Amino acid sequence: MDNTPFDDRKTIAGPMHATLRHDSAHKHVAGSADYIDDMPEPAGTLHGALGLTDRAHAEILAMDLSEVEATPGVICVLTARDMPHSNDISPSHLDDEPVLADGLVQFHGQPAFAVIAETRDIARRAARLAKITYRDRPHHTDITDALANGAAVVTKPLTLQRGDADAELELAPRRLKGRMRIGGQEHFYLESHIAFAIPGEDDEVTVWSSTQHPSEVQHMVGHVLGVPSNAVTVNVRRMGGGFGGKETQGNQFAVLAAVAAKKLNRAVKFRPDRDEDMTATGKRHDFLVDYDVGFDDEGRIHAVKANYAARCGYSSDLSGPVTDRALFHADSSYFYPHVTLTSQPLKTHTVSNTAYRGFGGPQGMLGGERMIEEIAYAVGKDPLEVRKLNFYGETGSGRDVTPYHQTVEDNIIRRIVAELEASSDYQARRAAIVDDNRTSRIIRKGIALTPVKFGISFTMTAFNQAGALVHVYQDGSIHLNHGGTEMGQGLYTKVAQVLADSFQVDIDRVKITATTTGKVPNTSATAASSGTDLNGMATFDAARQIKERLVAFAAERWQTTPDKISFVANHVKIGEALVPFPDFVKQAYFARVQLSAAGFYKTPKIHWDRNTGRGTPFYYYAYGASVSEVSIDTLTGEYMVDRVDVLHDVGKSLNPAIDIGQIEGGFVQGMGWLTTEELWWDAKGRLRTHAPSTYKIPLASDRPKIFNVKLAEWAENAEKTVGRSKAVGEPPFMLPISVLEALSMAVASVADYRECPRLDAPATPERVLMAVERLRAGKV
Ligand code: MTE
Ligand code: MOS
Repeated sequence: MDNTPFDDRKTIAGPMHATLRHDSAHKHVAGSADYIDDMPEPAGTLHGALGLTDRAHAEILAMDLSEVEATPGVICVLTARDMPHSNDISPSHLDDEPVLADGLVQFHGQPAFAVIAETRDIARRAARLAKITYRDRPHHTDITDALANGAAVVTKPLTLQRGDADAELELAPRRLKGRMRIGGQEHFYLESHIAFAIPGEDDEVTVWSSTQHPSEVQHMVGHVLGVPSNAVTVNVRRMGGGFGGKETQGNQFAVLAAVAAKKLNRAVKFRPDRDEDMTATGKRHDFLVDYDVGFDDEGRIHAVKANYAARCGYSSDLSGPVTDRALFHADSSYFYPHVTLTSQPLKTHTVSNTAYRGFGGPQGMLGGERMIEEIAYAVGKDPLEVRKLNFYGETGSGRDVTPYHQTVEDNIIRRIVAELEASSDYQARRAAIVDDNRTSRIIRKGIALTPVKFGISFTMTAFNQAGALVHVYQDGSIHLNHGGTEMGQGLYTKVAQVLADSFQVDIDRVKITATTTGKVPNTSATAASSGTDLNGMATFDAARQIKERLVAFAAERWQTTPDKISFVANHVKIGEALVPFPDFVKQAYFARVQLSAAGFYKTPKIHWDRNTGRGTPFYYYAYGASVSEVSIDTLTGEYMVDRVDVLHDVGKSLNPAIDIGQIEGGFVQGMGWLTTEELWWDAKGRLRTHAPSTYKIPLASDRPKIFNVKLAEWAENAEKTVGRSKAVGEPPFMLPISVLEALSMAVASVADYRECPRLDAPATPERVLMAVERLRAGKV
């Protein structure tokens, strides 16, 4: 038989590495792609709204819902007591996340009841008529407050340790300590959360949920209703963006819709509006990073000690693995000879923070990059020189082990950086910028080149498995289903390419179908950028099984040997005969060949022991680098991103168009995180940036004026991933760290680059201005 998915011994180029459009691109643009709110509603569909509390931390003494219930059109009001079996939806199974607040409010905006009404409007208006009596408790909403109040942690902290950082810090020729604040981020998916539940007979219920994790929604609905998983079916065709915000946060809406649907025996839909969605669902964690680094006069790091404190919100959610991943990326691309890294996942009276593209990795890396900048200013070098000095070395160099004791075996960061440095003309441009800054009074420029190395795999080993279900019908059309979900990232397209490639048929022959727990069970969240790696391989496995049966059939029917049979260009080649794929399949059907298969895959090699902080949590790394050039106005703090050059590694690309789209999108989203997107809570713990009016995501006009994005075309995954490709979903998010560091350089110019400016993220124009003013006043 022919092709494995990871070698190139192909006779005909299949659709595997082709630039094909996203299967729904034209539908997204034309408005004909169905989202859950576009589905026809069954007669009698009801609509839900959340009843939000307005205290950060308080006991609920009384909840008078009589006016809510008396509102015409209101059918019922649900409270914690109405949850049939359990009121808990903690994804970490720590019993710390109520569906509805039960006696205790732990963040401003926490839902305490839900209204079900004839229309969404009635439900929302009625929800405001509740009279809740509280007894306030003291609250702390940010990291500083939490630390000052000796706040608890929501989950067990992690320590990564290698060598003896304390001793080596003492011995190092130079040493500096610093601190950086890194802001959180709202996901701002265009489609807000939504769930639509349709009751079935007996204990059954079907839920359409905008979720990255249908299996978890299934489990949560079953758990709260007190029914087994086999009674609950969860479907999702696509999300209008997830970005991690729909890994766990959809549970609440799905559970409430299902409870109401079963109670009332009517279809029930929950679709929060943007303000409610932003108030009541979790975001990216903000961090406070404290570092202590020892180095020599060249800028070579000897030892690092750093603590990563994070605002986790009131419950654990995914804060454990998120803060772990921050530590896994605190080394960025650099070798730390001696290192101790600790996490501090702090409990705060704010919405529970959750997954967001990069999953703590971006915060970890930004801390690492900030240390490099500090060292560079301290030794008076271009930060790029210091970066190069500290990159992980070749395998076996003795400088190739991470703080979690995984050996970096596939290191291509030096080549990526060298190529980008040359192609972007970095050196000449930097020299020109330093020159211009000398004479420019108001506008100052900065340039920075920063690397990315991102570990691919779920650190929870069990999650690295996937299933697929493939049917070949009698007419030769192919039905594809797998456990991954589509949120715009192109997963469905890539997996369809793998399948079409396996049979060497046109992609149009493959029908991509909605993800459902009824077809592929026990799936993992589509997350950690591993959707294609996992589901692509599971799909390949299903295709392999069907092909094996087809080959055996052909060998018998045509009286030949399997090596004479191959799948080529919409045909099956048997000896010298070329049979069109549909005709061949028809014959196989009449010969009673099973034309359906369930495929499975689990990632090899990986293991991780959290207790010892040792293992090989990542199957491989994805690499990249970017150069950003910015201009700031030193009188107002306003700035522009003038030019960005990116060179990024996706292994052997499965679809260059989709991969470049992910890189551009990830870059701009990461740039938003580091520049304009600022979350702000008032003294009462109320999120005041809960709409686009007050929360500024990048606009088309904020994009880099020149934006050159290239794939490292020579790259190939050394591991046997599908088509030797690499994951692309999250790694590009960290490329725009170069924007922040370029802003930092522009700021530093006002004091002749003597000091590394204290520039926290997001570097809003206000922060840039304050940093300029501080430097001008002779303070860092
Ligand atoms: N791209 C789009 N268009 N929309 C999204 O919601 N989510 C990102 C990334 N790219 C996202 C996206 C996140 S957080 C992850 S983990 C990956 O896609 C998930 O998909 P994958 O595993 O198929 O790459
Ligand atoms: Mo992505 S944050 O792993 O959903």
